[in-house]
Amino acid sequence: MEIKVIDKLNPKNWIGEVVVGKTNKYDKYNFKCENEELLVLIESRKVVVAIDKLDCDNAKIAAYKITKAIKKYADSFGVKLPKTKNKDIIQNFIEGLILGDYEFDKYKSTKANHIKKVEIASSIKISDIIHKAQITAQSICFTRDIVNSMPDEIYPAVMAQYAKKIAKENGYECKIYDEKYLKKEGYNAFYSVAKASVHTPRLIHLIHKPKKAKKRVVIIGKGLTYDSGGLSLKPADFMVTMKSDKAGASAVLGIMNALKKLNIDVEVHGIIGAAENMIGADAYKPDDILVAKNGKTIEVRNTDAEGRLVLADCLCYAQENIKDFDYIFDFATLTGACVVALGEYTSGVMGFNEELKDLVVKTSHKSAELYAPLPFNRYLPKLLKSSIADICNIASSRYGGAITAGLFLSEFLQPANKDKWVHLDIAGPAFVEKEWGYNSHGASGAGVGMMLRLLESLS
Ligand code: BES
Ligand code: ZN
Ligand code: ZN
Repeated sequence: MEIKVIDKLNPKNWIGEVVVGKTNKYDKYNFKCENEELLVLIESRKVVVAIDKLDCDNAKIAAYKITKAIKKYADSFGVKLPKTKNKDIIQNFIEGLILGDYEFDKYKSTKANHIKKVEIASSIKISDIIHKAQITAQSICFTRDIVNSMPDEIYPAVMAQYAKKIAKENGYECKIYDEKYLKKEGYNAFYSVAKASVHTPRLIHLIHKPKKAKKRVVIIGKGLTYDSGGLSLKPADFMVTMKSDKAGASAVLGIMNALKKLNIDVEVHGIIGAAENMIGADAYKPDDILVAKNGKTIEVRNTDAEGRLVLADCLCYAQENIKDFDYIFDFATLTGACVVALGEYTSGVMGFNEELKDLVVKTSHKSAELYAPLPFNRYLPKLLKSSIADICNIASSRYGGAITAGLFLSEFLQPANKDKWVHLDIAGPAFVEKEWGYNSHGASGAGVGMMLRLLESLS
């Protein structure tokens, strides 16, 4: 989609308009100016969206609706930039315009039509913001495409290919480790999860290292290219959509894809634990005791709590191999309990550093994503006690399941790194089987927008 800035809209084109607050301009169409209300005037080639106030969320959703409505009739249109000097709002507005054109049609015989050109009428200079919005939205769509693709097509070796391609395009370093390495080096928790699959696992390490980096950040992604639950098999209805269990890893790929293009002056290490959780004669079992890379023993009581096993070893890998990082984040579709707690549109934010968690929540407002803290406390860790190993992979109570999963991960942090870490459970918003806000059915690319803003704020 080409985006062009112009002085004045061409009245012959389709035009999108955002109305902020009340107007009587469209009274004769019975348009009430309620938030997100849409008016399509086919004869006069106009689409109007009302919002009650101009903020990042409303701007992104309104822009999304304009593109979506107009693309039914035309392949280009003009739109007036809503009146604001707030760069975040402008960026979200432009991202919304692009995301309105996203459709996942890979497996459809009839392909979607796309918008070729959007003209934005603006009296202020917005070329830099357009560039940022384009890179961000493209990366979100890139992440969505990976998550939406079927598990027969995207397995760990394919995730590694994506990483290599990103590395080549951007001049990053890229290290790929296979199952032999995991076994030999003692990443036994990660290795065991992947054991029953014909698709062998990969630990992927991508490095963006600008010359004068201001900070060093690690971002880990859960990359379960399929989660059948393993021997603790998921019921049929719960297994569907588990192709999306690679959303954390896909977000890491999307983020890495954008860093160089956005000139972000932060050293970023993207680490992906890619595996497939399957059943088979060689499957890991409830009752197995696994030894993670740091020597901790884990009693397996449920093979469907596999993400935390893979991530535990990824945390060990990062802490052993990356020196003196400032922050360490992980993105994971880790628990159904997080969706129960916060609803399917909000990601859970967990960790020991209140300021860092606040930074995530505040930054998410600027990217129109939803993040909310889920608090640790002194009682919940006791639920992870095991009688025969150092820790159990599930809690003894199902209440607070998102938090106990986060606490499990925290057991694999070295004391010096506890305050550098934030765990982001994206199980809800990463994949929703209906359109919402500025997201079409399926994968949303959760995490990409927020993390790019956060990294930008560090540079
Ligand atoms: N991948 C799932 C979590 C999930 C559920 C993601 C729904 C997205 C939507 C995870 O591996 C899992 O199965 N977790 C279990 C943990 C339980 C066994 C303690 C869960 O949430 O039920
Ligand atoms: Zn699972
Ligand atoms: Zn999973």
